[in-house]
Parts: sequence; C-alpha cells; structure tokens
Amino acid sequence: MVNKITVVGAGNVGATAAQRIAEKELARTVVLVDIAEGIPQGKGLDQWESAPIEGFDTRVIGTNGYAETANSDIVVITAGIARKPGMSRDDLLNTNAGIVKSVSEQVAKTSPNAILIIVSNPLDVMCYVAKQVTGFPRERVIGMAGVLDSARYRSFLAEALDVSVHDIQAMVLGGHGDTMVPLISYTTVSGIPILQLMKKEALDAIVDRARNGGAEIVKLLKTGSAYYAPSSGAVQMVEAIVKDQKRILPCSAWLTGEYGQKDVYLGVPVKLGRKGIEQILEISLTADEKAALAKSADAVREPMSVVKL
Ligand code: LAC
Repeated sequence: MVNKITVVGAGNVGATAAQRIAEKELARTVVLVDIAEGIPQGKGLDQWESAPIEGFDTRVIGTNGYAETANSDIVVITAGIARKPGMSRDDLLNTNAGIVKSVSEQVAKTSPNAILIIVSNPLDVMCYVAKQVTGFPRERVIGMAGVLDSARYRSFLAEALDVSVHDIQAMVLGGHGDTMVPLISYTTVSGIPILQLMKKEALDAIVDRARNGGAEIVKLLKTGSAYYAPSSGAVQMVEAIVKDQKRILPCSAWLTGEYGQKDVYLGVPVKLGRKGIEQILEISLTADEKAALAKSADAVREPMSVVKL
C-alpha cells in the first residue's frame, strides 16, 4: 500500500472510489475532498465506521481543504458536474474546466509528486487541463475512460455469450465520447477471436451499446451519471500503480507522435506501474481502426482548442 491517496469530489463517483480504495487497503489514509461543507466529512466518517465490519485499516477522512491532502501519492480527480439526460460530455466543458483547473492548482502545490488520475468529463480535455495547470509530466497525468468503456463492452459480451466476464479480453481506444474505438480485432474470449463466436450484426449492436453506455445510465438515472463502473475503473488504475502491477490497460494519455497523433489526450494501451504510465504500447490497427482513431483525436482537439485555461 501507499501512504496517502486523495479523492477530489465527494459525489457518487468520488465517494464510491474512496470506499473501494479503502476496502482494498490500497493506502494507509484516504482523503476525500469537496467544497460542499460536511459532505466529505460525513461520507468519510461513515466509510471509516464501516471499517470494523468490512475489516480494513485504511483511515478515511473528509475535508474541504487541501492541507490534509499534502504529499499524496495518488490523487483521483472526480470533481465537476455530471450530465443530465440529453447532454453530451462536451456540454460540461467550461464549468468542469474551471473546477479541474482550480483543483489542479491546489494539488500541484500540496502534492507535487503525485500521480493524477482524471475522471471528470469531458475526460480527455480535463486531462489536458490538469496537465497544463500542474506542469506534471505525462507519466503522471492519466485519464480513466478506456477501462470503463472496455468494461461495459466486456460485460455486454459476457451477457450475450453467457460466459464469464473473466474470459473476455477487449480494448476500447480513442476519446471518451461517441467516437471511441472498440477494437474488434483484439476482442477475444480466452484467446478465441470474437467473430468465431458471434455474428457481425450482433457484435455491431454491442459495440454501439458500449459506445453509448454512459448515456444509457444517464437516461435511466435521470439525475446523474454512472458511478459504480466509473469508480471501479479508476480504482483498477490506482491498484495497478500502488502494487506496481505493470498492467496493460487502455487509458487516456498525452500523445507525442504515437499512433500518428501529437499534442492530444487519447485512449491508448499503456503499461501502468508505480511510476504511472511506464510505456505506451503501439499495436497494429486496421485501416478502418486507424481512421476511426484519427477521427476520435479530432473530436478531442475541438473542445481542447476552445477550453479556457
Ligand atoms: C460515463 C461517464 C462517467 O461514461 O463519462 O458513465
């Protein structure tokens, strides 16, 4: 375990992430931060009171300031407003950019060596904001999206094929939006290429559902967006870093020429270990996948070019 992990934003995603981190004992202390008075303190205390029952020794504390977060090893940023039905992630751009900017300024001052995991939307642009504001190297500013999008895709495939989720391997690359790129050529069931087990039409429907997975939950919840699966995604990345697992996971990373893309955050396969992003893997893609990834990069560049820093 590490000494301290901070989760910024005590809404559903942040609070659930804090709980999962504590239950897995990934840090000695989890600090939950939010501007809303009483909310992080109340949720943190409530979680800590579950410790004797769940059997974890991680202390969970809540606060409205950053003093308690000083020298965090990892900071998970979930702060921001969530989508309402009919909204796209890009509709959140300026409000959340302002929030992520001010959070990043505080974090850079109080935890200059932290690894940041960004969850706030629109995801890829918020990663850019955090990286610009903190000046941290790309190894330490990583976006959570591909893990979530792949998990949605994998859960739908497991359901359709009536097989264990453990046996479904899949990668979803690109931006965390309608242009995300599920890689059919890398989708396998225990190594068996997916198209040997499923018709193309059925797979296309699942790909489409995965692409709209976030909107499907927003439509059902009406007053907020998904949080169980998003917090799981963030915590899988936290665990890979804390335990130096060297896991290969699709994450949003700042590209400097990989996949023919430069100066943009985009979901690509990375190796996650104690230093953060330890490698970006460049896998071969079909011409269609390459074109889809380029289109997705452009869809990220557009809001990136207008966001106020
Ligand atoms: C989703 C939000 C978290 O995909 O972006 O559910």
